[in-house]
Amino acid sequence: MRFDIVTIFTGMFESPLNDSILKRAREMGAISVHYHDIREQTTDPHRSVDDSPYGGGAGMVMKPEPIVATVEAVPSEGKCLRVYLTPQGEPLTQKVVNELKAYDQLVLICGRYEGVDERARKVIADREISIGDYVLSGGELAAMVVVDAVTRLLPGVLGNDSSIQDESFEQGTLEYPQYTRPDVFRGEAVPEVLKGGNHAEIAKWRREQALKRTQERRPDLIKGRK
Ligand code: 6GU
Repeated sequence: MRFDIVTIFTGMFESPLNDSILKRAREMGAISVHYHDIREQTTDPHRSVDDSPYGGGAGMVMKPEPIVATVEAVPSEGKCLRVYLTPQGEPLTQKVVNELKAYDQLVLICGRYEGVDERARKVIADREISIGDYVLSGGELAAMVVVDAVTRLLPGVLGNDSSIQDESFEQGTLEYPQYTRPDVFRGEAVPEVLKGGNHAEIAKWRREQALKRTQERRPDLIKGRK
């Protein structure tokens, strides 16, 4: 999978994408990450990427020409999807992440300021995604979330592919509680069923616990069955 990041802050990405799973995924060639600085497509002496909004009001709007030129200059590779990260996009869920992992290339377009000129917005992206109902200073952190969530689903990136099937949201529920040694911690013992080695009983207990936890914490997941 190839990720192309379109941004005015290329420097924000390298540290998060150079540790742990993402570092290993890059080293093994499961993913590559390429940066495209919108400012390099400006033509004026001040290299402006933004301007004041028509109609007045606070903040600045990203000018159409540099961001469109940057997106159009990204080399394409195989099955490509262009994603604009915006709080106005469709909410990112595990279902959406599973759709994104089917592409060969994701172009992740990060806006800043009060957003992108509407005419540019319409032509740069195939899909608009938000990572939740709160406001970030820009799409960069959201783009990193997408890179992480997609990369960990690619074949061979996690040591054990079957752990993905069990985890939160894949089954439409939160995950069941996990325990490791010691047997007793601060007076609380590990549930007996997990120590018995009866795999059918363990699976049943885990399903029940996952449902109970989901019911308590995220009843909307059970109602919605997304
Ligand atoms: Cl994708 N961008 C910004 N700026 N804020 C957000 C977001 C994206 N998703 C949630 N909040």
